[in-house]
Amino acid sequence: MPKLSVIGAGTMGTGIAQVAATAGWDVVINDTNSDILEKSSASLVKVMNRLVEKEKIDQATADKILGRIDFTEDQQYFENSDLAIEAIVENLEIKQKVFKAVEEIVREDTIIASNTSSLSLASIGSALKDPSRFVGIHFFNPAPLMPLVEIIPAVQTAEATTKQAKDWVDSWKKLTVLAKDTPGFIVNRVARPFYGESLRMYEEGIADFVTIDWAMKELGGFRMGPFELMDFIGNDINYTVTETVFASFFYDPRYRPSFTQKRMSEAGFLGRKSGRGYYDYAEGAEKPQPKKDEQLGQAILDRTLAMLINEAADALFLNIASREDIDTAMTKGVNYPKGLLKWADEKGIDWCVEKMDALYDEYREDRYRCSPLLRRMKEEGKTFY
Ligand code: NAI
Repeated sequence: MPKLSVIGAGTMGTGIAQVAATAGWDVVINDTNSDILEKSSASLVKVMNRLVEKEKIDQATADKILGRIDFTEDQQYFENSDLAIEAIVENLEIKQKVFKAVEEIVREDTIIASNTSSLSLASIGSALKDPSRFVGIHFFNPAPLMPLVEIIPAVQTAEATTKQAKDWVDSWKKLTVLAKDTPGFIVNRVARPFYGESLRMYEEGIADFVTIDWAMKELGGFRMGPFELMDFIGNDINYTVTETVFASFFYDPRYRPSFTQKRMSEAGFLGRKSGRGYYDYAEGAEKPQPKKDEQLGQAILDRTLAMLINEAADALFLNIASREDIDTAMTKGVNYPKGLLKWADEKGIDWCVEKMDALYDEYREDRYRCSPLLRRMKEEGKTFY
């Protein structure tokens, strides 16, 4: 079995170590903070105990998995690894520094990867002497539970590196998709309108939070409404992702963040973790009730869906990923009820173009421009599948 090194024993590093060890790999997990290493080890013991209690695995298997993971502050233990995945703070300078050091320790053929969710792989890889062995391997949180992993080659990455990384992660029973090194990769790009358009409709006074959430769940089949989901992720985190994606796209208005969310974040109304976000999570707090108006609900769903489909179509238009990978990414990475391109076929390409054009005509904002791909498909009478 190949060997894995994980740099950073936080939320993601710990989850990635669990995934690889469960698949039979020996893992060394490293952190500069010994308290974090202890926390990581304790949390893995807890997870394994829970899996044994639930009879998902037996005690012997749990012991074996835990026995495969070594926790260390010393990066020298990386020397024998086949793959090294970094999951430290999201800061380019720090990541580059760490990669320079790691490259000196590991073998010449070790594949080196970053779990970054928002930095460009090209910029991280540029710190390495041999960036051809560097690739993005982007897990979703919680890594052991979320099946999707985005594999992102940088411009410097060798094809063999991408293929090996994909094969290994596939062997960990994950579902991999290939994405171009562009802001947000697939999921964090295509999902922007789910939050952005809901916030916009709220700001316009079209409906309140709870009614928008109701429409998206009840009529759209989404597992969580956008405001519930933002509260779950944390308004600070979700806002920062939006702001980063917006800046990385050279301020394309399609990704413009919202003042509503910025203020929520500034006020400390972060969501579940702070006890209050769009909703109040205090014990006994009264749950607001949606306005169950079918017509209004349908309008809310249609507007968000058209924007989501437009984003997915544009990602395909710009070759960010394949049609299948874009749909897989959204159903497996963020649990959408259907792939957006499949959904587009069901609604009809004409419907998608008309919805976008109606929004554009009403607002005259570049944010609502229809993807050229949808327009071309409409003219040619084509569908995605
Ligand atoms: P975290 O804050 O839970 O963990 C980061 C860990 O890195 C900390 O324990 C810290 O002590 C350690 N660290 C910092 N500098 C280090 C160094 N020089 N050497 C070794 N360890 C060092 O962060 P989290 O949430 O696990 O995120 C890590 C990475 O994964 C980031 O790049 C983030 O963008 C990405 N990511 C996060 C997701 C999430 O939902 N939290 C999802 C997907 C990717």
